[in-house]
Amino acid sequence: SPIHVFLQALPKCEHHIHLEGALTPSLLFELAARNNTTLPADDHAFLSAESLRLRYDHFTSLDDFLNYYYIGMSVLIHSSDFEALAWSYFQRAAADGVHHAEVFFDPQAHTSRGVAYSTVLSGFTIARDRACKELGMSTELICCFLRHLPPADCLVTFNQAELQESFEHGAVAGIGLDSSELDFPPQLFGELYRKAGEQGLRRTAHAGEEGPAAYIANAIDTLGVERIDHGIKLAEDGELMRRVAESGIMLTTCPLSNVLLRCVKSVAEVPIRRFLDAGVRFSINSDDPAYFGGYILDNYCAVQEAHNLSVAEWESICRASIEGSWCEQDRKDELL
Ligand code: ADE
Ligand code: ZN
Repeated sequence: SPIHVFLQALPKCEHHIHLEGALTPSLLFELAARNNTTLPADDHAFLSAESLRLRYDHFTSLDDFLNYYYIGMSVLIHSSDFEALAWSYFQRAAADGVHHAEVFFDPQAHTSRGVAYSTVLSGFTIARDRACKELGMSTELICCFLRHLPPADCLVTFNQAELQESFEHGAVAGIGLDSSELDFPPQLFGELYRKAGEQGLRRTAHAGEEGPAAYIANAIDTLGVERIDHGIKLAEDGELMRRVAESGIMLTTCPLSNVLLRCVKSVAEVPIRRFLDAGVRFSINSDDPAYFGGYILDNYCAVQEAHNLSVAEWESICRASIEGSWCEQDRKDELL
């Protein structure tokens, strides 16, 4: 359809995509075979790539999804596995009209399995260089910390020499906070974020996905974030919504993810119109595209179907997402 062609052609930036969430069932089974990974024998979903894919249609919550997400990534062992994963995502994103991608990864989920940070980073770095050369796509890495783990463990990981080196060399642009939200409010990670800020790292955090609007205020007040990942619960607090609009903090929304994880009943319930009216900046993203049945363009199309935005509104969403990106100003000027 004409609108689909228009949305495909829009120069998009993606800010909320977990590379481990781009692991498709077919790549998962391919790597499991190659790496001799034992998948759970007691869960019939792991019988085949097809049965696993079908299971993804029935997530009941964020934690139900995370169970599959952490098991799935256990097939990632070698640098070449991480490279293949990132390269497959970059190619797919380029086809959807993504010109700039800022991608999350979860180092603790790999180092805890005995996979070195340098293995993860080297694979991603090869794929990024290739995306730049072959696709003209600029990319940044955002190192996420797992909030279900003790904050002290996150600090130990943050302070490891390999991570520090990747921050200093600019291989990693900033930090994020992900995993189970409800029992792990942002303020638990104040020290981690203070240290990251002192080192000049960019800071974002998942907040207001399953958790309340108060977690969004908390992330802003105690973590010094310049972006909020998801943030859909912001619309529950009008005063906070005005504050976020004024501050220029950008939300990285993920509409299909919100539906699949039952944070909302439908994309129509994602408060896109409220955000536009209040002047809240947001980008539209895929989160874990291999798990939630859609890449970025599917999310753009779902928003259009549910909210019927004008051409001018789409152009302003794309402009805001360029301005809210963490690339150099020169790159932003090229993208604009
Ligand atoms: N890790 C991967 N996807 C996530 C999400 N949507 N929320 C929290 N943690 C995640
Ligand atoms: Zn996420």
